[in-house]
Amino acid sequence: MTPFRVFATCDIGQEALGRLRDRAYDLEVHEQREPPPYDLVREKVASGIDGLITTLRDRIDEGIFQAGQGTLKVVAQDAVGFDNISREAANRYRVPFTNTADVLTDATAEFAFFIMGAASRKLYPSEQIVREKKWATWHPYLPFLGDEVTGKAVAVIGTGRIGKAFILKCTGMDMNILCYDPLVRDDDFVRKMQAILDLKFTSGLSRRHNWIRSVSLEEALREADFVSLHVPLTPETKKLMNDDRFALMKSTAYLVNTSRGPVVDQEALYRALKSGMIAGAALDVFEREPLPDDSPLRDPELVERLRLFHHFASGGRQTRLSPDPEIGMAGRCVQGLIDVLEGNYGGDPAQMPYVVNREAF
Ligand code: GLV
Repeated sequence: MTPFRVFATCDIGQEALGRLRDRAYDLEVHEQREPPPYDLVREKVASGIDGLITTLRDRIDEGIFQAGQGTLKVVAQDAVGFDNISREAANRYRVPFTNTADVLTDATAEFAFFIMGAASRKLYPSEQIVREKKWATWHPYLPFLGDEVTGKAVAVIGTGRIGKAFILKCTGMDMNILCYDPLVRDDDFVRKMQAILDLKFTSGLSRRHNWIRSVSLEEALREADFVSLHVPLTPETKKLMNDDRFALMKSTAYLVNTSRGPVVDQEALYRALKSGMIAGAALDVFEREPLPDDSPLRDPELVERLRLFHHFASGGRQTRLSPDPEIGMAGRCVQGLIDVLEGNYGGDPAQMPYVVNREAF
């Protein structure tokens, strides 16, 4: 039997890729740090590879699927988000594509939680004054104060896996929760969470009787001290946060985005921060990545209130690299590819746990 030929647009982790080499796959990895140009990916696909391993940096569109017509059997994405892959084109050519949902849920949720606190408790400016030798004396409120997270209300926009994991972490900090999801309202989850909050209070473990409620987007934005975004990027969620929506937020509130950059209208965010319409923000994702050198978000006047990160939310060592499909993105990505190429689950992509576009089969 000829070995399966696979092209990986990135070194997603040697241990996981080693699982393919151990199975005698003919594996080519694009070793450079930067992604391969689109035309190179198309060329590789046109050369007749069986499988393509991708990251969110690669545009996988009609042109790619067309180049692989009759030969490309699977696209395995090393991410949970797949807005870079044309689902319609994949379905038209009947190519299953896989993602790495679940294994990065906690890493992403905890990162959202940490950067929320980093922004509001001003961790970076505090460290800066120490490092820059500007720590003149201890003072009750100078040179600045932070805003507490404990006991505050957080709006969770998008209550899928990551949104729910984020809520669990927030309830550990006695926060009140405003849930909004554009697609599904999970009353059962809300009921269970409220039971936990009730128990914490009635048993005396917390002196706050916290609450969780499903609300409209408008109510969520109006009432929250923090707004955290956990929606996928779709035509409906693009620029979900725009001038009008920022205008609904409290002037003391913070925005946290670990979802996808285009969910926020970045110019509107800049205006909201600059004018004091909102207190601050913590961003892990941007309309253009890497963040351009001339981005207004780099405005020095915003440094104290705006935290910027390099799309790093899932960047925990185990989460990114473990070859175990139950633990790591790399492991799950490779397993998704193996399932399709080796015909696991009776060879039916609709039964394969990591295939996204099951509707095509
Ligand atoms: C990261 O952003 C992912 O979608 O996995």
